[in-house]
Amino acid sequence: MMKASSSPLRTGPLRIGIAGLGTVGVGVIKILEERKDILSAHTGQALEITTVSARDRRRDRGVDLSGYDWCDNTVELAERDNVDMVIELIGGSDGPAYALAKETLKRGKAFITANKALVAVHGRELAELAEANNAYLRFEAAVAGGIPIIKALREGLIGNEISSIQGILNGTCNYILTRMENEGLDFDVILEEAQKIGYAEADPTFDIEGIDTAHKTAILAALAYGYAPDITNLPTEGITKIGTVDIDYARQLGYRIKLLGIARKSEKGIETRVYPAMVPLDSAIAKVAGATNAVVVEGSYVGQTVYEGAGAGEGPTASAVVADIMDVVRGNAGPVFGLPSHTLAQSDSVSENDYSGTFYVRLRVDDEPGVMAHITAVLAEEKVSIGSLLQLGSAVSGGVYIVMTTHVTSEDSILAALKHFTELECVLETPTMLRIEAC
Ligand code: HSE
Repeated sequence: MMKASSSPLRTGPLRIGIAGLGTVGVGVIKILEERKDILSAHTGQALEITTVSARDRRRDRGVDLSGYDWCDNTVELAERDNVDMVIELIGGSDGPAYALAKETLKRGKAFITANKALVAVHGRELAELAEANNAYLRFEAAVAGGIPIIKALREGLIGNEISSIQGILNGTCNYILTRMENEGLDFDVILEEAQKIGYAEADPTFDIEGIDTAHKTAILAALAYGYAPDITNLPTEGITKIGTVDIDYARQLGYRIKLLGIARKSEKGIETRVYPAMVPLDSAIAKVAGATNAVVVEGSYVGQTVYEGAGAGEGPTASAVVADIMDVVRGNAGPVFGLPSHTLAQSDSVSENDYSGTFYVRLRVDDEPGVMAHITAVLAEEKVSIGSLLQLGSAVSGGVYIVMTTHVTSEDSILAALKHFTELECVLETPTMLRIEAC
């Protein structure tokens, strides 16, 4: 029998240590100071930030830190006698964040984090440590910022079998795709601009290659399906190959392109993936614009529920961190991922090739007689049935585009057809393929 985490309720104030004083850390300090009385009134437990830790002590962060102890060595925060709860806002799956998590939990202290990489990579180990040491581990801010999707999956939807989760979980990608559509600008142009104004990271790889979305998807899948988070078994594609031409064609076909984190259950097993997909223009998820995040969950009894809001930033992320603090103070125990950690299954995500669906394919081909016959011969050979086919007039750099959608077909077949296309002389560049999602 698993031990229930005990509430760290104290007669004196609950003493909080914060590691990482970037945007979110400052946001947490502001909420805890500005709403001190009202937060205490909710539970009868006073909250007090006692200690903070960050790289640069002298930097002006716009909040008064003079009343807090300073801790130079991040991991030492866990050892401080005047810290009952650690809030980790450093980031990164390893390094100081990981060391701090382990040290805090080993000591039976509550650990709250906004760090999706840490939870996605070390979730099972940390959950085991938390349970073994009767400590709390909470991470509401790790997925979709201010949207309480962790609480929704772990608690609000517990009566349901979850058939699918589709999420726009990365604000940077959604912002880029939205601007590409609205302004007709290329991916590179918008990314560069977003970096200049400090909107996108200097190294945007995790965002644009879908890795950040994969971390978040692994966490949601763990909660929905009783798995330990696993990013090693989560095929991931980002948005770098998307052209404005695909965005235009998507619109003509009645779709919009979104980077989705997907977890769903089928007869074949649990599928977890990240890819840019075409979603129907009239679906809830298609309407989510700019840096906003959204998650659509299908439950067996509740039906579809849709959660939308800010996925990043000072206020929204700090709001989620404070919700975790209050949860711990209330003594809202229960296993970290909903089930005791020793019962969490090993991810057995169905392989890419088990996937069947409808697809969009764009080819740039020679504008010559007989080309279409070659294309359709490949489709016939690979047993891909065409849903719609367009050759849109104007020539593009020595060729024309042929754009098609398929009927339901296996991913094996479409991948074989794409390989076959690239071997044709009349096909002038690597074909673009996108999955079409029913939403
Ligand atoms: N880089 C993330 C995003 C921040 O763009 O959504 C929140 O995890």
